Amino acid sequence: MSDVREDVLLLVRDLQTELRVLRGLGVRVVKRQAQPESQPGEPSVKKPENAAPKIGGRKTTYQFGDGRQARWEMVMQEREAKPTKAPKGRQAQLFGQGARAEESLAQAPSKPVWQPNPLSAEEVQAKLDELRQEIGDCTRCRLHTGRNNLVFGAGSPKATLLFAGEGPGRDEDRTGKPFVGRAGHLLDKIIEAMGLKREDTYICNVIKCRPPENRTPQDDEMRTCGIFLARQIEIIRPRHIVCLGSTAAKYLLQINQAMGKIRGRFFEHSSGARILPTYHPAYLLRNAKAKKLVWEDLQKVMGEIKQPVEEDPNPPPVPLRSGLTS
Ligand code: URA
Repeated sequence: MSDVREDVLLLVRDLQTELRVLRGLGVRVVKRQAQPESQPGEPSVKKPENAAPKIGGRKTTYQFGDGRQARWEMVMQEREAKPTKAPKGRQAQLFGQGARAEESLAQAPSKPVWQPNPLSAEEVQAKLDELRQEIGDCTRCRLHTGRNNLVFGAGSPKATLLFAGEGPGRDEDRTGKPFVGRAGHLLDKIIEAMGLKREDTYICNVIKCRPPENRTPQDDEMRTCGIFLARQIEIIRPRHIVCLGSTAAKYLLQINQAMGKIRGRFFEHSSGARILPTYHPAYLLRNAKAKKLVWEDLQKVMGEIKQPVEEDPNPPPVPLRSGLTS
């Protein structure tokens, strides 16, 4: 296959993934601006009645080959969930006495309803291996020039809890494993305090290569590499995703708000997964007082983990022998 053909195929696949990812991220409305059929000043897509409040999104301008432009605004909406009383959480020694049980969204009904991954651990692992192969010796963005090891992610293919960090630091770049430095050790303690084992969760990052001097990843780097995080989520299908820090929150929620404003709130992924942003462990190393807040946030996740999985009111149709569906 010629290089050009290969590049075009890769581009098409990446675009398809980006679209799936956007849907996955909760983009519900795509507004196309300046459509010929719209009256001036009239939005081309009417806001649905009772639409959930807009919480984020992004504007994109697409340039056609003949010079025409299309502008899109992709809008992410928050599904409102009713707070209920939190079940009693396990008090972690790590966080001391200050942590208090808070309201939880434990029994809040949410749609779509998350269902466990029907694939076996081996099948999920095979898909992750395939994705790793597809990423290959990646040169898609500038960060490849400074890396020693690409850090794909690690953990159980059957994990129902996924932690998404920002990107590898020095220790991760050296070892090829996520969260193995100081911040990683603190994350281990946090996971233990939740009554879980690191190896039962899945840990990965928005970007897979270490930025120079651990700087914050740039938007284009996040867009290029973030699709692989989205694919990992798609493959593993976790019930809960904890965004560690604002880079993961910015990418997964498509919003650009201070962590102080969004932490501890649940957002919904189209798979039914519940996304909760909280402070990054590296931030906790510099701001010990924030540990209490992280513990409050994670208690909400723990409360939900203990809840039985809701039955899907609209299960996928059962295939009949004939190949038709019921
Ligand atoms: N910080 C991150 O965001 N990810 C890692 O893997 C390590 C430190």
